[in-house]
Parts: sequence; C-alpha cells; structure tokens
Amino acid sequence: MITPAQVAAGRAATPGWGERLLLNMAGASPMSAAAHAALQAHLALESRWGPMEAAEAAAPRLQALRDDAARLLNAGSDEVAVLGSGSAALGAVWSAWLHTRPMRPGDRVLVGRQEWGGNLATYQRAGASVEVLPCRPDGSVDAEASAAFIDERVRLISLTWLPANGGLINDAAALGRVARAAGVPYLIDAGQALGQLPVDVQALGCDVLKGAGRKHLRGPRGTALLYVRRGFLPQLTPPWVDVQSAPWAAGLREDARRFETSEQPVALRLALQVALAEALELGVDAIAARVQALAAVLRDRLATLGHVQLHDLGRGPRSGLVSFTVAGEAPVATRARLAQRGIHVGANGVPYTPLDMQARGLDAVVRASLSWLHDEEDIERLASAL
Ligand SMILES: Cc1ncc(COP(=O)(O)O)c(C=O)c1O
Repeated sequence: MITPAQVAAGRAATPGWGERLLLNMAGASPMSAAAHAALQAHLALESRWGPMEAAEAAAPRLQALRDDAARLLNAGSDEVAVLGSGSAALGAVWSAWLHTRPMRPGDRVLVGRQEWGGNLATYQRAGASVEVLPCRPDGSVDAEASAAFIDERVRLISLTWLPANGGLINDAAALGRVARAAGVPYLIDAGQALGQLPVDVQALGCDVLKGAGRKHLRGPRGTALLYVRRGFLPQLTPPWVDVQSAPWAAGLREDARRFETSEQPVALRLALQVALAEALELGVDAIAARVQALAAVLRDRLATLGHVQLHDLGRGPRSGLVSFTVAGEAPVATRARLAQRGIHVGANGVPYTPLDMQARGLDAVVRASLSWLHDEEDIERLASAL
C-alpha cells in the first residue's frame, strides 16, 4: 500500500506539482526531480567532458536501466531493448518479422477492438488483412471465442492491453494462452500498462511487448521499452542494422539490442533509469492498487453529476484512464474549459482507437488519467469544475 506520507513525498519530489492539476498521465507524466537531475547532470557532463567520454562514465547506469527494465517485466536483460517511442518499437519488430517472412496475399493480423490506431495503420500498410477479435458484452477481448478465428494465415495477434480511450483492462494473459496454443506470435501493446500495472511477460505469454517510458513510468519523452522473447528473436531479422546491432565481424546481435542503434540519447536513458528504479522501489502492485482505487472514486463521483456520461468499458478492475463526455459540450471544449481553471485533461478523437470509437458511435471523449500522486481532493476539484 502507498501511504499518505509516500504520496506527500512523491509530490514534494515532483517539480511544479500543484501549479496545475495534471490529469493527463496517459499522455505523459511529469518526471521526478531525481530523474530531471540525472538528465541535466548528464547533459552538463557532456559539455564538460565530451559526449563520448561522458557516455563511458554512464555505462554502469545504462546497464542498470536494462536490468531494471528486465525486473519490471520479469524478463532477461538480453530480451530488452530501449527505443525512442512505443510506435518505433512496434515498427522495428514488425518490419523485422516481415523481412524474415515476407507478406503473402491473404495474411492476417488479429487485433483487439481497442487497438491503437498507429498499430492498425502499420499492419494495414504492409498489406495484412486486419481483423477484429470477438469481444465480450463488456467490450473486452473474448479470448476463448478468439481461438476459432485463428488459422495458418494469421501472422500476428496484436492486443492493446489497456486502450487509450478509457478504463478497460483486457485479459491479455488469457489471449496469450490462446496464441501459444495456436503457435502464433503474440504482441502486447503495453503503452498504458507500463508503470501502471504489474507486467509479467512470462504470465502474459507474449512474444513481444512494448510501451513508452513517458507515461505511467514517469520517464522522459523519447524513450520506450521493448521486450522480445529470447526464443522469438532468431525469427526477427531487422531490415537494416548498424555498427552496434550487427558489428562487422560478429554479425547480427543475438539479443534484443539488435533493434537498437549505436547512437542513443544517453541523458534521456539515464532519466528513464531513475524513473524505473523509483517505480520498482515504490512497487508497481502498490501503484496499481492506488490508481485503480482513485479511478473508482472518480468514476463514482462523475456518476453523481447528472450531465456527465462515463464511457469506460469493462466490469473491472478498471485502469486509471477515465473517459467521459459532458452533455451539450464537445470534448475539446470541455478540455479547454478545464484548462482555464488549471485542470489539464485529454480529449481523444477517433484516430487513437478507431475501431472501438466507431463501434460505439463515439466521435471523441474527455480522458482524465490518474497517477498514484493524485488524491481525492484532486478528484473533487475536477468534479466541481465540471
Ligand atoms: C495504447 C497505446 N499504444 C501506443 C501508443 C503510441 O505510443 P508512442 O506515442 O510512444 O509511439 C500510445 C500513446 O498514447 C498508446 O496509448
């Protein structure tokens, strides 16, 4: 459990916390002072010592980043790569998978209804037939019914675990069991899960998992984690390499760093390392429990406002992404109105989760996304403003 003292300490250690009420953690979270300090100290060292020399001094902490990421995911350090964005991570794996086994007419990619729009575009542009897996009445993916959808033409099953447009938590482990039984590669988009939910790639049964560092992990923008199962790596041949991913004499790296480039934003990675260590120290289980409890309070409170309609799917537990609309007001207008009062939420249109928004006839939703740093006063402030 996260104690009130830990919340107070976390807020005090977040520069600017309280100047604005930030409720857009699903977009990006503010970093802690320690993560900022790591980033700035490294930039300062680069200017004094030279960037290459400063990177040598940072090597142990860059290794710690891999080790911490592996701990976070219950993976091996060799199964982890650090990239610049969640989409770059997905694109790297997908293009390597196509490079190994080129697309044939009729190849299929099966997705959940809440799949991230960028993933859909990536699969479609490669010529795959993108097909939606069956949903349960609560909107979540129906893993058991999905088994019947799989045949030898399925190239990939791709699931956005926690959608960007609301509180649903898909049963990613159940779909993993189905994918494993069918022998089909299984990719989990954990963009909204990293740092918000415990992530155990063994229990999830996935071959690939990726997510950005800037959201619930509270790392800097321009960072992402990629996990690739050791046994799946030999099937992925990146279409292009560099001196690190495929050194001249040694050939293609055997570990997940075959997806990295030799040139890296070291300062960003060092900040991500601090953010990861802080999340691990606090405990992602404890973070999840607090965020889910706060989100339940927010949903209950919004339900008391007659003019606010909630749009979160799932029967629970639900994530810290709370989606709603205000009667007679477009979501962008609600966002602007709240911003004038120093309250910052997101307003999501169709492109982030097109299949789900279209299936539910939604044009846009307001999204308030919580972190463990929030409290019930923040929720009350949002509700009063609405
Ligand atoms: C579920 C999900 N997947 C993918 C992405 C895209 O990640 P990135 O912006 O790091 O490429 C997001 C971003 O919000 C997301 O919420």
